[in-house]
Amino acid sequence: MSRFFTSSAARSPRGDPVGTVFPGISGRRKNRPDGARWTGGCVVTEELRMSLDQIRQEMPAAMRWIYMNTGTTGPLPERAMRAVEKQTAAEVDRGRIDPELHQRVSELKETLRRAWAELTGATTASIALTQNTTEGIGLALAGLDWQAGDEVITTNLEHSGVIMPLYLLASRKGVQIRFIDLGVGEKNMIAALEQAVTSRTRMIAFSHVSYQTGAVLPMERVASWARERGLWTLVDGAQGVGALPLNLKQTGVDFYAMPGQKWLCGPEGCGALYIAEDRLEQVQPTLVGWAGLKQMGPWPEVVLHQDARKFEVASFSAPLFAGMLESLRFGEDVGWTGIYRRTHRLAARFRSLLGEVPGVQVVTPDNHAGLVSFEVQGRKPEEVLERLRSRGILMRIIPRTPWVRASLGFFNSEEDVDRAVEGVAEWP
Ligand SMILES: Cc1ncc(COP(=O)(O)O)c(C=O)c1O
Repeated sequence: MSRFFTSSAARSPRGDPVGTVFPGISGRRKNRPDGARWTGGCVVTEELRMSLDQIRQEMPAAMRWIYMNTGTTGPLPERAMRAVEKQTAAEVDRGRIDPELHQRVSELKETLRRAWAELTGATTASIALTQNTTEGIGLALAGLDWQAGDEVITTNLEHSGVIMPLYLLASRKGVQIRFIDLGVGEKNMIAALEQAVTSRTRMIAFSHVSYQTGAVLPMERVASWARERGLWTLVDGAQGVGALPLNLKQTGVDFYAMPGQKWLCGPEGCGALYIAEDRLEQVQPTLVGWAGLKQMGPWPEVVLHQDARKFEVASFSAPLFAGMLESLRFGEDVGWTGIYRRTHRLAARFRSLLGEVPGVQVVTPDNHAGLVSFEVQGRKPEEVLERLRSRGILMRIIPRTPWVRASLGFFNSEEDVDRAVEGVAEWP
């Protein structure tokens, strides 16, 4: 028995609504107080369309480990691997120049674009397929007409995926970067923006969810605040998409850059950039090629697509796109609404249990999604990480801080959460 969990009451789920799955006690209890149904030893939740057992069986890595690093890369579902293999096998077997296969690959690309659009509440016209988040951020920044002395406001909570492209903008174009301090993400962002904005401000660039502290920033409010002032918004959605519901068109952000490999559990190399349709005309592509071409006549007659396809350049990996599409379908089969709720609920459970462990400082504020960061006083984060790893628990360190970060995914079990808290709490 761990030192932290001293009674069965302390282990009971706190405030978890109907639909929670408890694999650790599967089959041992007949009447569940939370009202979820037992079916043949596994629980059908009211919110997920698949049982947790089924989900986890499709994600072997989530069973091998206590997988709490989805914020870096999520566990790949087996069906994504099979889709990659199937596409590769067809290419080997039929040859990539097979006209029918070639046609199917073009359709695959548009199907994938539609899947991204549906997931994010966007039109297909506003989705450009990219390789990762950072590429999307770079495309957005490089596509605007900057003057030396223009200003971008960003926050103290950003990843290098935002900082590096801003650095390039500052060093090449003389754009000034102003940082607002949001603490760990609990401070009033609008008030901070009001203080920082000047007549030279042109853009607000910020994360939807801070990779450091897990704080969810008030994207919608910032977007409407910025639009009222004629400012652009660029959102780093690396820790948002797949963890939080999105309705980008309604939200009013101008750019939202996304990865496939994190909360969407897709392969690496498949991302997307959302560009608000009413802004498309004002953003120029930086690299161009056949993928963005609508029509070519005699030189210099070159017509690019008017929609977000103009940001796409040339060849892409069909096997990876097939895998990405399958990961998105997996999410659909599990049920996105249930995924968002469960992600939040598991993170809330982890955060609250951790908050009771003596010597542990929880960093993540109330406004969180699936990330929870914490500090174990008197221990180096490397030491904590290594101890957890030796118990089969995978988390990560936030560089230049004493913090360890856990990512709680829909595929994690409540038992995973409890064991992770025990792992943090128990020292010899
Ligand atoms: C907030 C944030 N932005 C950007 C990135 C970089 O993501 P990608 O590799 O998709 O560019 C990460 C990755 O960890 C991240 O957490």
